Amino acid sequence: MDTTRAAGLENKRVVLASRPAGWVAEANFRIESVPVPKPKDGEVLVKNLWLSLDPYMRGRMNDVKSYAAKQELDQVMVGQTVGEIVESRNDRFRKGDHVLSPLGWQLYGVSDGKGLTKVDASRVPMQAYLGVLGMPGVTAWVGLLDICQPKEGETVVVSAASGAVGSVVGQIAKIKGCRAVGIAGGKAKCDYVTKELGFDACVDYKAGRLNDDLKAAAPKGVDCYFENVGGEILDAVLRRMNAFSRIAVCGLISQYNATDPYGVKAIQSILVNRIKMQGFIVSDRTELWPKALADLAGWVASGKIKYRESVTEGLENAPRAFIGLLKGENFGKQLIKL
Ligand SMILES: NC(=O)c1ccc[n+]([C@@H]2O[C@H](COP(=O)([O-])OP(=O)(O)OC[C@H]3O[C@@H](n4cnc5c(N)ncnc54)[C@H](OP(=O)(O)O)[C@@H]3O)[C@@H](O)[C@H]2O)c1
Repeated sequence: MDTTRAAGLENKRVVLASRPAGWVAEANFRIESVPVPKPKDGEVLVKNLWLSLDPYMRGRMNDVKSYAAKQELDQVMVGQTVGEIVESRNDRFRKGDHVLSPLGWQLYGVSDGKGLTKVDASRVPMQAYLGVLGMPGVTAWVGLLDICQPKEGETVVVSAASGAVGSVVGQIAKIKGCRAVGIAGGKAKCDYVTKELGFDACVDYKAGRLNDDLKAAAPKGVDCYFENVGGEILDAVLRRMNAFSRIAVCGLISQYNATDPYGVKAIQSILVNRIKMQGFIVSDRTELWPKALADLAGWVASGKIKYRESVTEGLENAPRAFIGLLKGENFGKQLIKL
C-alpha cells in the first residue's frame, strides 16, 4: 500500500507549461491530476476552497530578475488560497480550521504550517481574506496612507478603480476626507465606483476623452495618484499633478503583456511639480500589515468599505479567468471557487 497518498483522493492542479511571449494563452498552462499526498508528522492536508487570481502572477511567469522568484515550469502556479484543514498532524492546527495559505492553483496541498494563517470565517465570508481583508486591501492601505499620505481636502486619483486594490484606495480616500476620483474601463464600472462606492467622480478611459474628462473630474488638479495601470493613463494623470504631489506606483497592468512597452512622455511634470514618485511592494512592508488589517476590518464591519467579487467556478477555468483579469473582464476581486 502507498502510505504517501491520502486514501482515494485525487488532486487537480494547474502548472506552468510554457512561458508566454507577450499575451498569456491558455496553452501556457497544463491541468494535471495527481494523487493527494498524505501529511507526515508535523504536516497538515488542506482542501483549498477559494483561489485568488492576481495580476502579479503574470510577472512571475517571465524568466527575468524581479522582486520575487520566478514561477518554475511544470510546477503548481503560485497563488494564495483559503481552505479547510482536512487532516492535521501539526499541533497548531485542527481538522476543520480555515486557513489562508500559499498553496497555489490546486485543490489540495500539504503544508508544514509555515505560511499558513488561521482565519475566522464566522464574521466575514472566508474569501474576503484574499481581497479586502488580505493582500489587495493592505496594498491599498500602504500605498495610499504610507506613501501618498493624502491630507483632508486633497484630490486622490486611482486607476483600475473598480478592482480589488483600486476600490479600497478610493474608499479610504473618502474616509480621510479627500476628493476621490477613479479611472476605470466602461460605464458600468464607473457607475459602480461613484454610485455604490461613493467616489466623487470616475473617468471612463475607454470613452476616448481621457484628458478632458480627467480635467473635469479633478478641477483642482491631482495631489495623490495611486498608479495601477501605467501607459497612456499615467501620462494623462502626470499632466494634471499639482506642485508637491505624490504618486504611489503600485502596478502597471497595461504593460504586463506588452512586447513594446509604452514610453511615458510627461516626465517633465515630475520635475516642474516636484512630484514624489515611489514604487512599492506590499510584502516588503510587513510591519504595517497589522495596523492596515485592523483598520480594514473596522471599515468593512461598519460598512465604510464595500467590495465586490468576480467569481469563476472550477479550477479548470482558472487560466481563462486569469487571462480575463489581465484584459479587464473581472469586475472586483477575481476569485476561483474550487
Ligand atoms: N505593489 C504591490 O505590492 C501590489 C499588490 C497587489 C496588486 N498590485 C497591482 O495593483 C494593480 C491592481 O491589482 P488588482 O488585484 O486590484 O486587480 P484588479 O484591479 O481587480 O484587476 C485588474 C484591472 O486592471 C485593469 N486593466 C487591465 N488592463 C488595463 C489596461 N490596459 N489599461 C487600464 N486598465 C487595465 C482592468 O480594469 P478596467 O476594466 O477598469 O480597465 C482590470 O479589471 C495591478 O497593477 C497589480 O499588479 C500591486
